Amino acid sequence: MPQYDLRFGIWTQVYGASGSFFHPQDPPDASWERNKRLVLQAESLGFESTLVAQHLFNPRDDERDQLETWTASTALAAVTSRIEIIAAIKPYLFHPVVLAKMASQIEEISHGRFAINLVNAWFKPELERAGIAFADHDDRYAYGREWIEVVRALFRGHRVNFAGNHFNIEDYQIRPVGRYRERPIIYAGGESEQAQALAADTADIWFINGQPPDDVRRLIGAVAARPRHETPIRFALSAFVVARETTAQAEDELRYLFSLSQQDAPLRQAMAGRTDPKAVMFKTFARNPAFGSNGGTAAGLVGSYDTVAARIRHFADLGIETFMLQFQPFEAEMARFANEVRPRVDRLTKTAA
Ligand SMILES: Cc1cc2nc3c(=O)[nH]c(=O)nc-3n(C[C@H](O)[C@H](O)[C@H](O)COP(=O)(O)O)c2cc1C
Repeated sequence: MPQYDLRFGIWTQVYGASGSFFHPQDPPDASWERNKRLVLQAESLGFESTLVAQHLFNPRDDERDQLETWTASTALAAVTSRIEIIAAIKPYLFHPVVLAKMASQIEEISHGRFAINLVNAWFKPELERAGIAFADHDDRYAYGREWIEVVRALFRGHRVNFAGNHFNIEDYQIRPVGRYRERPIIYAGGESEQAQALAADTADIWFINGQPPDDVRRLIGAVAARPRHETPIRFALSAFVVARETTAQAEDELRYLFSLSQQDAPLRQAMAGRTDPKAVMFKTFARNPAFGSNGGTAAGLVGSYDTVAARIRHFADLGIETFMLQFQPFEAEMARFANEVRPRVDRLTKTAA
């Protein structure tokens, strides 16, 4: 596996909290003001990236607040100066020429720090209640494949003519493009066979949900072995971190978080009823019970500062370049990670070099 400089990112708090909605020190807050402060703090702590997930209403409870991804990402691009901003996109929500134009504009506002995360949807009512048919799993991926083909060509500044099953594009080009670098980076999420093929064919970086190292090794091996037209695909991992002076303290804290999350059970249950049963990602979550979204603590970043640093190094040796992290309470634990874990990872990396 080629080795890259490690990068750390944070999940912007689009739902208001990572983990439990009932943490006394971290009540849900999905407001723009909170997220602006959070990302500016992350940037000043040295985090390299932030992921802004996409849902139009809160998947656990539509009475709760939800941050809008694309408008918030645009504003984040304007108020930050160094951090990468990754906005998730579900193809059914934006026509590809609109999305390519918006992404190119954010690329310019951010001076070349923008990326998209292509996700092909599991949250049924978001589309269905809007009167947009929620296509079958594999059809969604077929749609996403045409969609990203159009977006990629427009990003590159091509004059696009495209006749597909879903899109008919004639003589379309957008300007400006490529002012700061060739084009925005393309991440892709999703674990199914279709997701893996789509990532290998069209993405720069594949996002893996938090899970144990052996599973991550297998997934990296499968995607890296697929044919590629461009530079080798790179890998990112989502994970929830619980780090303390000692492993015993971290395990106590994890137990506390799990006890809080009992109060979230009705919300989790409601969300489960809104998901596509064919989404492979949820089968992975069922195998690895965890705290936090997208695999959360199943990646095993729970323990003493040294243990967590060593586990990150191990994932890096398997080929993970970017770690997209969750914490709770977010701001305080993110600062702890930057001050305690990150220097240890840097020391391990220098020793290994
Ligand atoms: C890091 C990461 C971030 C994701 N973000 C989103 C998101 O913002 N919105 C969404 O609907 N799905 C999101 N997903 C879910 C997937 O992209 C995909 O919709 C899901 O895994 C179902 O597809 P599958 O059957 O291929 O696993 C994310 C996945 C990963 C790994």
